[in-house]
This record gives sequence, structure tokens and C-alpha cells, in this order.
Amino acid sequence: MSERTLILVKPDGVKRGLSGEILRRVEAKGYVLVAVELRTATPELLAEHYSEHVGKPFYEPLVEFMLSGPTLAIVAEGERVIEGFRSLAGATDPTSAAPGTIRGDLGRQWPTKVLQNLVHGSDSEESSAREIGIWFPSL
Ligand code: RTP
Ligand code: MG
Repeated sequence: MSERTLILVKPDGVKRGLSGEILRRVEAKGYVLVAVELRTATPELLAEHYSEHVGKPFYEPLVEFMLSGPTLAIVAEGERVIEGFRSLAGATDPTSAAPGTIRGDLGRQWPTKVLQNLVHGSDSEESSAREIGIWFPSL
């Protein structure tokens, strides 16, 4: 059964001009784009999106980073797309993310307060429903 996931090209990816390359990888894998929109996040939207991280030491730097420029918000669809995009994205830490993945091929460590790792992908059906509701309430 087909499912949907929320993908974000985070501000580091948009600034580095990698939006097209990341969309290309999602499409080349065979997933279907349902929505693609360049958006500027707000502290309120991020508090909802990252509610599981509120209060953690990296939360404030994470919000500052996510407010540092526009984000490309994407909804993609296909069988097992949630798991499939997490696999395309690679591990959270771009230094150790496997070559072949978005983070492994295109990301690296920078002297910043929080890990900048180019993309976000929903991690479960529950998260994807919640996150799509936050970023694309009309879907
Ligand atoms: P995401 O939610 O963005 O897809 O990434 P993820 O599941 O791989 O990682 P998660 O644990 O949900 O963390 C969310 C984002 O916070 C930043 N982070 N920095 N120790 C650190 O500096 C640290 N830990 C997390 C990353 O940008 C991560 O993607
Ligand atoms: Mg996460």
C-alpha cells in the first residue's frame, strides 16, 4: 500500500544549491512528488515539527539553523517511501553517513553548533502524518 513522507531540504542544502540534486535522487529512485514548496520556517512551526527534541541541548541551535534561510518542503509518495527515503538520506552524522547516500555524498561536518545534514525525512507513519499536517495542512 502506498504511503507518503515529508522530506525537507534544510537551509544548508538550499544555500548550497543542492535542492535539484536531492529532488533528482528522490525521483530517480521512483518516488512520486506530491508537493514541492520553498518555505520559510517560523519558531512556532519548528516547535511543532521538532516537538520530540524540545528541551534537548541541541534544540536552540537546531531552531536557529532551521531559521537561517528557506527550506524546500516536499511530500513524496510510494510503497515504503518512509523507510526508502531514510535509506537514501543516510545516517544523521554526515561524516559517517555511507557514501551513496545524500548525507554521505553531499554532506560534511562544519564548525557549527549543530549538525547540518542537508535533509529531513519522516521516521514513521505516525510522524509522516503529523509532519505533513504541519507543513501542508491542505493535503
Ligand atoms: P531528521 O529528523 O532531521 O531527519 O534527522 P534524524 O532523524 O536523522 O536526526 P534527529 O535525531 O531527529 O535530530 C534532528 C536533527 O537535529 C540535528 N542534530 N544535531 N548532536 C547534534 O549536534 C545533533 N543531534 C541532532 C540534526 O540536524 C538532526 O538531523
Ligand atoms: Mg528525526
